[in-house]
Amino acid sequence: MGATTGIKDVARLAGVSVGTVSNVLNHPERVAEATRLRVRQAIAELGFVRNDSARQLRAGNSRQIAIVVLDVTNPFFTDVVRGAEMAAEDHGVLVVVCNSSESVDRERRHLDVLEEQRVRGVLITPVDDAHTSRLELLIARGTPVVLVDRGSGWPSRCSVAVDDVFGGRLAAEHLIARGHRRVAFVGGPMSIQQVIDRHRGFSAALGKTARLITVDTPNLTVTSGRVAAGQLAELPAQQRPTAVFCANDLLALGVLQGLTHRGLRVPEDVAIVGYDDIEFAAAAAVPLSSVRQPREQLGRTATELLLDEIQANGDHQHRHVLFQPELVVRASTEKVP
Ligand code: RIB
Repeated sequence: MGATTGIKDVARLAGVSVGTVSNVLNHPERVAEATRLRVRQAIAELGFVRNDSARQLRAGNSRQIAIVVLDVTNPFFTDVVRGAEMAAEDHGVLVVVCNSSESVDRERRHLDVLEEQRVRGVLITPVDDAHTSRLELLIARGTPVVLVDRGSGWPSRCSVAVDDVFGGRLAAEHLIARGHRRVAFVGGPMSIQQVIDRHRGFSAALGKTARLITVDTPNLTVTSGRVAAGQLAELPAQQRPTAVFCANDLLALGVLQGLTHRGLRVPEDVAIVGYDDIEFAAAAAVPLSSVRQPREQLGRTATELLLDEIQANGDHQHRHVLFQPELVVRASTEKVP
């Protein structure tokens, strides 16, 4: 029978009450040995499977936390989730993964379901700091939340992030040292705090040393990188930037593909720096220089902060952990002789 068999079927076959079956499942020490055996035989015979989520809903003690990521197709978030899962498994907790696809509405719908399911806590990279009312309501109603890949803009919450302003500066200093004086920043939308900070660090470090053009994109994907490459390639050679800093590696991979598709060489004609240092950065046709983020560590640390808040039952000090990125130099910015 299996999944459709209910606790009442088990009670009927074993000749006991539903309460006795529930005790056998949750408090077997309260049931006489002979009765326990009869109930367990009925469970085996009927193939009964306990509906754990219903029990957890009643008891409010789900062993699940959730992580809401911006883009599940981005290996950055896959690595963050892996770190979160490793930390959660150490505590016997399951991580439910939700993808907002950079949509405020999808994020809101995920938070609705997660609250109904009584998850014990939520890790989230908010889509837009200007539209967080649903997240604030979830917090106000008592669900612990830790912000991932987001700075300390939320003083009353734990957060784990990377210093993206410093990351932008690392990219600028590297390109200046390579002799580039006409550079581009590719990234967007500028509603995403990480993009804002990377752009801010990059442009501040360039100062007046290099001329900067900014190419806005609707999202942080390979496709948007290819489109941005087309815009850059169409510029007259003497106006075209000799180097491009991209807000993440997916954009950088798209820019690499788009430029080479149009006959431009990397790094000879245009150098490229990405951000995240995902596995595909080193494996690219021209291995990408990239500003590395400690992705798994971000996920692990955020999960440990969340579990600490859940288990502390009110006696928890919020913390804002800020990691430092590092620049990984590869062929895409090699010095051209
Ligand atoms: O979260 C916004 C961006 O920051 C993501 O695209 C990811 O690549 C990280 O770098």
